[in-house]
Amino acid sequence: MDIAEIVTELMGPEGHRDPHPLYERLRAFGTTVRTDEYLVMVTGHEEADEILRNPAFGVIEPDLRAQFEPDFLDHPGKTLLGDSILERNAPDHGRMRSLISSVFTPRRVAALTPAVTAAVEDLLDELAEHADGDDGPVDFLDAFAFRLPIGVICELLGVPDEDRHLFRPLAADLTVTLEFLAGDEETAAADHAAVELSRYFAELAARRRADPKDDLVSALVATADADPQRLSDTELLANLALLLVAGFETTGNLLGNALALLLEHPDTAAALRDGTLDPAALVDEVLRFDSPVQVTSRIALTDGLTVGDLPVPRDTGVLLLLGAANRDPRRYTEPGRFDPTRTEGRPLSFGAGPHYCLGAQLARLEATVALPALLRRFPALTAAGPAVRRERLVLRGFGTLPVTLTDR
Ligand code: HEM
Repeated sequence: MDIAEIVTELMGPEGHRDPHPLYERLRAFGTTVRTDEYLVMVTGHEEADEILRNPAFGVIEPDLRAQFEPDFLDHPGKTLLGDSILERNAPDHGRMRSLISSVFTPRRVAALTPAVTAAVEDLLDELAEHADGDDGPVDFLDAFAFRLPIGVICELLGVPDEDRHLFRPLAADLTVTLEFLAGDEETAAADHAAVELSRYFAELAARRRADPKDDLVSALVATADADPQRLSDTELLANLALLLVAGFETTGNLLGNALALLLEHPDTAAALRDGTLDPAALVDEVLRFDSPVQVTSRIALTDGLTVGDLPVPRDTGVLLLLGAANRDPRRYTEPGRFDPTRTEGRPLSFGAGPHYCLGAQLARLEATVALPALLRRFPALTAAGPAVRRERLVLRGFGTLPVTLTDR
């Protein structure tokens, strides 16, 4: 296979099913590979880390993207997050990120531990009722994996209970814009989702402006109102949508990917259940082995950049294959082996540098509380049929993950 063939397969059904064999084929050509005149792909851990930390490689801001994609500005699904921190470089990025970090603090997240624990127990109680009713297998993703992070991020933002059911389909539709080769129908669904999400947050922000509460939407609205130079209305809405979508799409997939691995590795599941395996180590290994975010991108903002020996001229796009970097054999011994006892350092699944995931601590908290509690409540939990992957490369997870909760 040549490089072009590998890239085509990676972005199609084969890559969705399991990108790792294709990453390895690409790695055989080098840790940084030019795939065409304007695109470089990176499979090396060190190289990806270096690029993510180097501000000369920026995210692709909307104005620049519009030059490459003429209809870009016509699609709210593509532009919604354009005013958020995820898609802005300095100085806008730093200005907005410092504001958001000032309300989304490690202390606020740590203080959520009791609320996360209670949310986990509530969901487990519901699962137990289902098991008692002997209602057959459940889809772990529907019944638990997505409901937990949706509940947690909505609680933090201040989204009322009755609205929470709206978001999973909207986020699933919207995030298709992060994938390559989205079709017309998918793009239209993403546009619709973006319009709905903006409308929802505009209304919620207006309500909190009139009647503030102790939540993140109120805190951000107050900050934006105090100094619109620091956060405009459009930026406020874009960042709220980002926090919501980033807050659960990825974490839901982390929980699903983790359970699938635990079902394949009963000894690891037993160690997690009986407390001999540190849940944090398990979560780090799941993140490394089956990263919920497989790919991110940058663009060379200046001339004269190189990665390894490869010159990367200005305006060259760089695809960072985080899932491949996490299995770089120069960094991890036997990288294809799932081993939660490794001590080789954290993977790149939350990125690195200025855009390092703002929710990493929260995602870790949710997973480290949820997974041992799940296994303790249902020690006989088993797979109840094949788990099916979503048709996605960038956000990697399952579409369905059927499980039986008890051995009755
Ligand atoms: C397992 C769960 C998660 C994974 C794997 C993940 C992954 C990532 C990655 C790779 C980035 C960097 C993207 C880049 O550099 O281009 C990122 C950024 C971000 N994440 Fe997460 N994330 C997770 C959970 C969360 C949660 C729970 C939240 C919010 C509550 C969140 C909010 C954000 C935000 C706001 C950014 C943008 C930061 C910036 O651009 O400065 N993420 N995430």
